[in-house]
Amino acid sequence: MAPVMVRDFAIYDGYLDLTAQRELVEAVQDVARQAPFFRPQTPYGKPMSVRITAAGKYGWFSDRSGYRYVPTHPDGQPWPSIPAPVLRIWDALTGLERRPECCLINHYDAQAKLGMHRDADEADFAWPVVSVSLGDDALFRMGNPTRGGKTQSVWLRSGDVVVMGGAARLTYHGVDRIRPGSSPLLPGGGRINLTLRVVD
Ligand code: SIN
Ligand code: MN
Repeated sequence: MAPVMVRDFAIYDGYLDLTAQRELVEAVQDVARQAPFFRPQTPYGKPMSVRITAAGKYGWFSDRSGYRYVPTHPDGQPWPSIPAPVLRIWDALTGLERRPECCLINHYDAQAKLGMHRDADEADFAWPVVSVSLGDDALFRMGNPTRGGKTQSVWLRSGDVVVMGGAARLTYHGVDRIRPGSSPLLPGGGRINLTLRVVD
């Protein structure tokens, strides 16, 4: 499948069929049973509107001490391993031998959003970040290598996969809002986004 390129973001529209999406939802539920979703605090002490959890050697974490990768869930347990169907998406779309060490799992409810940011807590930006959308539609905004300037937005739908590599790897991006109730995929509604990251 050839991606649609928007500002060097490779968007694979409808990459996952319904069966594949359901398999991923089950895998995420399994991770969340072992490592429950929690709401991190920003470095400024505000709770984030997304709830997060993770799988892999590392999870992404934020509190007053800043953004960072951590080897354990806030409950002290190591993160569950990254589910096989998630790794298969990485393998198929990147063709890399190297595999991600973190699958960050964001859950967006009707009010949640994610401000413009770059994923910059990893050691080597040569590795891409792969993002998988499940559930409700999300308005995904893509900007520039520095904050501000003109932006371009697309609606990401359930089953879409975005590869942020090359110039897109350090391009600002964010989620303005989701479209509540637009997908019946998640039992509790909302949206789940998986991002696969090479950390070390
Ligand atoms: C992220 O940028 O970390 C998540 C993007 C998304 O939810 O689509
Ligand atoms: Mn990001």
